[in-house]
Amino acid sequence: MRLKRTVYIGELNKSFIGKEVTVSGWVLRRRDHGGVIFIDLRDRSDLLQVVFEEGIDPKVHEIADEIKIEYVISVKGKIRRRPLGMENPKISTGEIELVAEEVEILNTSKIPPFSLDEDISEVSEALRLKYRYLEMRSLGGLKPFIFRHKINQTIREFLDKRGFLEIETPFLTKSTPEGARDYLVPSRLYPGRFYALPQSPQLFKQILMVGGVDRYYQIVRCFRDEDLRADRQPEFTQLDLEMSFIEEKDIMEVVEELLSYLFEKILGKTLSTPFSKISYQEALRDYGTDRPDIRFDLKLREISSLAENTSFQVFRNALKQGGVVKGMKVSSIFSRRELEELTQISQELGAKGLAWIRYQKGASSFQERWSSPIVKFFEPSLLEKLEEVFDLNEESATLFFIADKEEVANFVLSELRKHLAQRLNLISENTFSFLWIVDFPLLEWDEKEERLVSVHHPFTHPKEEDLELLEREPLKVRSRAYDIVLNGVEIGGGSIRIHKRELQERIFKLLNISPLEAEEKFGFLLTALEYGAPPHGGIALGLDRLIMLMLGKKSIREVIAFPKTQKAQCLLTGAPSEVKVEQILELHLLPGWERKAMVR
Ligand code: AMO
Ligand code: AMP
Repeated sequence: MRLKRTVYIGELNKSFIGKEVTVSGWVLRRRDHGGVIFIDLRDRSDLLQVVFEEGIDPKVHEIADEIKIEYVISVKGKIRRRPLGMENPKISTGEIELVAEEVEILNTSKIPPFSLDEDISEVSEALRLKYRYLEMRSLGGLKPFIFRHKINQTIREFLDKRGFLEIETPFLTKSTPEGARDYLVPSRLYPGRFYALPQSPQLFKQILMVGGVDRYYQIVRCFRDEDLRADRQPEFTQLDLEMSFIEEKDIMEVVEELLSYLFEKILGKTLSTPFSKISYQEALRDYGTDRPDIRFDLKLREISSLAENTSFQVFRNALKQGGVVKGMKVSSIFSRRELEELTQISQELGAKGLAWIRYQKGASSFQERWSSPIVKFFEPSLLEKLEEVFDLNEESATLFFIADKEEVANFVLSELRKHLAQRLNLISENTFSFLWIVDFPLLEWDEKEERLVSVHHPFTHPKEEDLELLEREPLKVRSRAYDIVLNGVEIGGGSIRIHKRELQERIFKLLNISPLEAEEKFGFLLTALEYGAPPHGGIALGLDRLIMLMLGKKSIREVIAFPKTQKAQCLLTGAPSEVKVEQILELHLLPGWERKAMVR
């Protein structure tokens, strides 16, 4: 490297006119105007027009002739004002250009598989992931990662000021149950034994509280082998927090202040605090989900008791089988074709069908006001009740109903709610609606495993007032857990923890974890709880999801430098890949290793 960079392109402006600089970067465009060669050169910071004029050193011109797109070069020369009328107001260096005096080609480049000079969002994701470095190098390609860097720095700055200590916890560890499958790492030294990659640092952060750390945080990778979606990756990043001598409201306050600080400082947006708070029960009742998007209304209403009095067999049968009838009002009228399409969507989501009633405001006759194949099953008095429940009269509207098991009705209507909000443009972009969900049940019944399982994790503290129900009516016990939802995406969850061994053991027992198994898996925690564990609690925010939403992206893959596909593959490196048989032997993974392990 002969020419040493003196300045980033982004630092250049009119004050550099007449000055000599050296810049380094990649060639985005090249135009040859018979003798004069123009190159648009870019580095991490910006784009600059470089001119190789006629009459410069022939050797320099010869080199400039060889330069192609994406070559890596350094250019030395003088900054001058662009000729009148040649300015480009779209870029920060649009009023100046660099007149080349010397040039050095640092590396050549093959022609990229997609043009870096255009909007590359149309390029297939598979190709972009395989050549992630080229995507990064495209205009604006680094934006999400620069943004993410700023978020991390700002989080650290905020939490440091608040007295939080950043402490790293191990990746090679024991299983930490968060409801997913573990990624296991075989041990070479201990045949038949495995480390598990942490699903979260949950147990370590609790142990840190027993250690007197008082306030801990970590921006930490977590590993979960589960089915992937747009907002789920096998490895993802949490902002993990834990505090001692606190209650729910203290955690919520810290999180609200932290998020307000981030939004203000990075997006220039003021959040209004405290965030709204609703119970898990209310969320399911009104939105059919525990992560509702409250940027739009469209609340669900249960009409089971009203439906019981209709003569519509579909409703009556569903109720007879212990189901519910729930509905939703949409202030819009749909064509038959649209209604058929919505019915099909509902069926794909698991409903048996979708009942609808069209309500025409101000129509004089009854027939004109109500239209639907099912309205004949409703007595006029029932229709009047519907008017009341859904607050009709005001405007024309369509009512949609699902009769099914409560979970199915809730799920389908909550998805339909999102679908209709998008379709009808009810969501104002650039709005951030935060919501706390509280009063979760502590436990739920797992049909497959035929046992009680934790709704969050087994270390969540039950509500004090529900403690007496633990053994008697475990499903009625509420927990001291809270989730935080942003625009319908769960961006975090946490709880006050159990800090006494006896209660922790009671919970393990309810979960059908034997004392032996509890000792084997969590003995270290139970022991720690016996040595003066302080009351404590915390939360973890899904950082990838938060950043995705802040940037208005559709998938967390867009904000992770090297993400995996929906099929858990890294297209850049080809992971997961095969390994040598020697490695497998060393790790005792061939059939029969159990026996070998026992012989040792
Ligand atoms: P939880 O399991 O709710 O809590 O995880 C916290 C947050 O992490 C995000 N998240 C994910 N993001 C991307 N890909 C995934 N596969 C994924 N899984 C979870 C979500 C979620 O809200 N130890 C507890 C926290 C605590 O109790 O303090 C925990 O891990 O945004
Ligand atoms: P059917 O009597 O099956 O022809 O259904 C009459 C109407 O009720 C159709 O519009 C169906 O889509 C709708 N429907 C059927 N099953 C259900 C259900 N479980 N919940 C809501 N609507 C349904």
